[in-house]
Amino acid sequence: MHRQFFFSRPVFTRGTGTLYYTINATGSGAAVTQDELKQAVAEAALDYIKPRLERDSILGIGTGSTANLFIDALVGVSGLFDGAVASSEASADRLRRHGIPVYDLNTVDAIDIYVDGADECNPQLHLIKGGGAALTREKIVAAVAREFVCIADESKWVKHLGNFPLPVEVIPMARSHVARELVKLGGNPIWREGVVTDNGNVILDVYNFPIPQPLATEHAINQIVGVVTNGLFAARPADVVFLGTPDGVNTFTSNR
Ligand code: 5RP
Repeated sequence: MHRQFFFSRPVFTRGTGTLYYTINATGSGAAVTQDELKQAVAEAALDYIKPRLERDSILGIGTGSTANLFIDALVGVSGLFDGAVASSEASADRLRRHGIPVYDLNTVDAIDIYVDGADECNPQLHLIKGGGAALTREKIVAAVAREFVCIADESKWVKHLGNFPLPVEVIPMARSHVARELVKLGGNPIWREGVVTDNGNVILDVYNFPIPQPLATEHAINQIVGVVTNGLFAARPADVVFLGTPDGVNTFTSNR
């Protein structure tokens, strides 16, 4: 049962995001943090995948704070599936620490379900991802997975993508060239200095870049020589989104 809150209003923000004050059915109040919303969607995803697991199932596992909570929740069902393919070295390490086998993608035939967070999600279930610089491996795992389940707190829900700066993974020697091309497309690319991806590349974050047509923009940026990929997930959107709100977890499914 995911719906557990009855009334809420945001009261202030702090490090982990907006803190909500809720009044439950008995009339007593409780604060709900962004971390608690992330925990709620991690548990919702676990409830969703549990009846779908088979002994030989391979899961795709994403990257970030919400994905970490899902990894921790997976421990309770670790005997019910074979293992996982991770979208980052950090997630692979966390899975191994929990005793969950981690496979190289090249050694598995298929991924049954991929579970990951997002930086933005629109009503078409198109996403912006890559806040944790793992976008390329995330896109590869999503492409292979039969089903993509996205878990996010409500701060990620937007009508139109583009408020969050769009991450673009770039071959290091092409950084300036790609930045100039992104300016021609109307964005303001900023080098995420000091960050090297698991693939040895750099990240440009594109600010002030409204994205009215996510699919066209995803393809246009990927055509720039030197771009590995960008953080738009429109060609391969989520199939299911669990969105954590102070009123409970809302479920959205794709009609594609
Ligand atoms: C990492 C990602 C993450 O899914 C995204 O940044 C959301 O992270 P969090 O769950 O910590 O809010 O795309 O590259």
